Amino acid sequence: MPQKVVQFFISKFKDIFNNKGSELPRYYRPRPYRNAAVRFRSCSVEDFEKRRIIVEETGLNVFLFPAHKIPGCDLLSDSGTTTMTMDQWSQLLLGDEAYGSNEGYFSLKEQIAETFGQSWKPTDKMENLFIFHQGRAAENALFSVLSGILHKNNPNSPRTIASLSNHLEPKLRRMIENKIDTLEELGKPYFIIPSNSHFDTTGANIENNRMLPLNLPCKEHLRDDEAFPFRGNMNTETLINLLENESSRIPLIYLTITNNTGGGQPVSMANIRKVSKIANQFGIPLLSDACRFSENAWFIQQREEGYQDKSIQNIVQEIFGYLDGFHISFKKDGLVNIGGALLIKEDGRMFEKYPALGNKLTDHQILTEGHPTYGGMAGRDLKALVQGLKTIVEQDYLDYRIGQVERFGKKLKKYQVPIINPIGGHAVYLKMDDFFEGTITRDDDFKGIALTALLLIAGHRFCELGLYAFGRCRNGKEYPPKPRVSFVRGAVPRLTYEEQDLFAAAEAVKILYDNRDRIPGVGVTYGRELSLRHFKSRFKFKERG
Ligand code: F0G
Repeated sequence: MPQKVVQFFISKFKDIFNNKGSELPRYYRPRPYRNAAVRFRSCSVEDFEKRRIIVEETGLNVFLFPAHKIPGCDLLSDSGTTTMTMDQWSQLLLGDEAYGSNEGYFSLKEQIAETFGQSWKPTDKMENLFIFHQGRAAENALFSVLSGILHKNNPNSPRTIASLSNHLEPKLRRMIENKIDTLEELGKPYFIIPSNSHFDTTGANIENNRMLPLNLPCKEHLRDDEAFPFRGNMNTETLINLLENESSRIPLIYLTITNNTGGGQPVSMANIRKVSKIANQFGIPLLSDACRFSENAWFIQQREEGYQDKSIQNIVQEIFGYLDGFHISFKKDGLVNIGGALLIKEDGRMFEKYPALGNKLTDHQILTEGHPTYGGMAGRDLKALVQGLKTIVEQDYLDYRIGQVERFGKKLKKYQVPIINPIGGHAVYLKMDDFFEGTITRDDDFKGIALTALLLIAGHRFCELGLYAFGRCRNGKEYPPKPRVSFVRGAVPRLTYEEQDLFAAAEAVKILYDNRDRIPGVGVTYGRELSLRHFKSRFKFKERG
C-alpha cells in the first residue's frame, strides 16, 4: 500500500482517538486496561420484586442491603471498592507477614518519598509514617492525641460562646455559635479545626475529641456553574478573619483534596498555596485529608494555567510541598481495598508546635492497631499498596478514570437530571433540592432516602449525603446541615464498571426523575436522634394521601 494512503488512515484513526467531533471526551478510545477476572451477577427480571422485599426488610437503609444482590452499579462508595490490577495481585503473593519490620514497610517508605516527595521520606531519627487500617483510624489517632496535648497545655481554656471575638464576620460568628450549641453535650468545644469541608468521619472524629470542625468552603462551592473549575477551594478571606481574631483556638488548618462533601470538587494549586501562606503567617500547621490526591492533581493539570505540561507526579509533589502533614485513606487513591496512614513532615510546623505528638501517636498506634511497622495492615496489603501508588499517578489511568465519571454525569445531564457542575472526580452528585423542585416536598420527607431505596429496587446503589446524613435531630426538631448540603451521590469504584453499567444506572435515575412527583417521602422508624444516624437508621415509605 502506498505510504500516503497508510498516513491517511492513521490520521483518521487519530481523529477518533482524540475524540474529534464528539461532545464526550475520549469516548472512542479503548479503556487503558483489560479485564483479568470477572464476577457474574444474577440479572433477572424476577429480581425486581425480590429486591423490593429486601429493601423494605432492611428498612430502606442502603448500607444494609446485601451487595451480592445488586446486579447493576454499586455506587455506595468509591472507597475500598477498587478492582486491583494484576501487578497488585502479584504483589499480594510476595507479602511478608513478619510482626516487626516486614518487607512491605520498607517498600512503602521508599514509595512514599517517590510519590509525595523526598521531604516525606520517613527516616529512622523520628517516626513520621503512621500506618492504619483505614482513613478514619488515622483521623481518630490524630485528633485524640492532639486533643489530649491541647487540653493538657490549656486546662483553663474558656469554653463559652461569649468568649468569641466580636470582630468575627457576623455570619462566621453565628456559624460557630450554632455549632457550639449543637455540640453542647460534648462540653462546649474551645478549639476549632477549619477546613474547606471536612468529610463526615473527619468531622465526627474532631467533635468526639471535644473540638469543633468548621467548614469554610469558597463562595462558589454551591454555584452550579462550569465557570468555576475549583469549587473545592477554601474561603481564604473568612479563614483570615478567623485567624486574625481567634488564632489561639486554631491548632491546625485542614484542606480536603478533592472536596468530597462539596461534590468531589478539586482545590486549585493557587488556593493550596494561598492557604499555606496564611498558615505560615499565623504559624499554624497545614494538613490535608489527601484521600483523592491524584485526582485533584489531574484537575490542576487540566484546568489551572501553567500546569498543562507538568506530569501528575510533579503536581502531586508541589501540592505536598506546601503541607506539614496529611492523612489518607488508601482505599481511594491508593488503589487498594484496605489501608490508611497519617504522615507528619519531619521538619514541618506540626512537630515544631507539638513535639510530644510523634511519641504519643506511636503509643496510640501500638495500643489500637499494631506495631508501627505494619499499623493495621497485613504485609501483603502493604505490598499491593506500594504498587497501587505507582499506578494511581499514571496519566492514562487518570484520563480514563475521571473521563468515565464525567461521561456518566453527562448522560444524566442529557436527561435533564440536576447534578453538581462541574462534575467531580470520583462521583456524580444529584442535587435533591432541584430534583424535587415543583413537587410537594418537606425537608423531613427525606426524599433523598426514598430515591436511594427506589434505585436499589431498580438494581443500583446510590447514597444519600444530605439532609439526613448531615442533619441532626434534637428533641424532635430537625436541624439541616449548615451550609445546606442536600445530595444523593453515585460514587464510581475505580477500574470496576464499564460505561454500559453506568448508563444503565443513569436510565434508572431518569425514570425516577421523570416521575419525581410520584416519589413518596419516608418516615424514620428508628434512629432519628442517633449520632451518625444514616448508618444506623431504618425508614418506611410514607403513604401518600
Ligand atoms: N476523608 C475523606 C475525604 C473520605 O472521603 C473518607 C471516606 C475518609 C476521610 C475516611 O476514610 O473510609 O478509609 O475510613 N470516604 C468514603 C466515602 C467512606 O464513601 O466517601 P476511610
